[in-house]
Amino acid sequence: MQGSARGKLILCGEHAVVYGHPAIAMPIDRTTTVTLTPSDGPTRWQGPGDHRATEVLRRLTAESGFTARASSDIPIGRGLGSSAALSVAIVRAMGIEDPEAQIEAAMRGEQVFHGNPSGLDVQVAVREAMIRFTRNEGFTVLPPPTFTVVVIDTGMPGDTAALVAGVGSRRPQIDATLDRIGSLVDEVAASLGDVRKMGPLLTENHHLLSEIGVSTPLLDDMVSLALDAGALGAKLSGAGGGGVVVALVEDPAPVLRAADGRGYSAFAVIGRPAGIRPQVAPK
Ligand code: MEV
Repeated sequence: MQGSARGKLILCGEHAVVYGHPAIAMPIDRTTTVTLTPSDGPTRWQGPGDHRATEVLRRLTAESGFTARASSDIPIGRGLGSSAALSVAIVRAMGIEDPEAQIEAAMRGEQVFHGNPSGLDVQVAVREAMIRFTRNEGFTVLPPPTFTVVVIDTGMPGDTAALVAGVGSRRPQIDATLDRIGSLVDEVAASLGDVRKMGPLLTENHHLLSEIGVSTPLLDDMVSLALDAGALGAKLSGAGGGGVVVALVEDPAPVLRAADGRGYSAFAVIGRPAGIRPQVAPK
């Protein structure tokens, strides 16, 4: 039994989404594949990840009777959705096909990684589309991205559970900032086809994330590096504390070069140009 799920990138709205505000996220072409085989003895995990992967597997399958082999090219703990992809790949390998049932089961896995997940990461992994999501209203599928972003990796994992708990402990003092992030997400949603409008909104989202205490000097430095290299906007993406920066670009090359010059690993996620339709095969 085999199942796969893709990683994700949060465009805007992380952390605020935990408190009911909207967020926008999209899948990326990085995948986790899990193969489940019945076996004697305790359920075992063979693949990337730490003891929490075994815990997720046992919660979603059973304490004994399974071995899971996994492969993944999603960097772990970088806000790229490795934990949600792991849970969704497991539930798909178990043969659960209904999207709502996949989400319901995978959320039990996500709780191993942090106690109060908004569900955003699992939703993107299951829906396989760019979505706007709120905890109360659920998801809306947005048009496929027409823009290009460069993802710059700090090489360091962020501790999502601790970061989410830290933000929670700073409420209600930071509630106005969370509200501002929420309204900014709707401004981004309205400007998805207009990168010049969208860029500054993303950079503002980074400053607000900094205000709520989840950025680091390295993430701030990467945002400046991307903007200096011509990005239209840049922000941390995911829980922060490490992880990645996402930079909105017209041309990825200068930002990729600047990141490489500083020894940071980076890759581009290239949107489909507006108006391009899937090709119809000639008769
Ligand atoms: C983590 O990928 C995104 C956060 O908003 C947490 C969550 O939505 O559960 C930080």
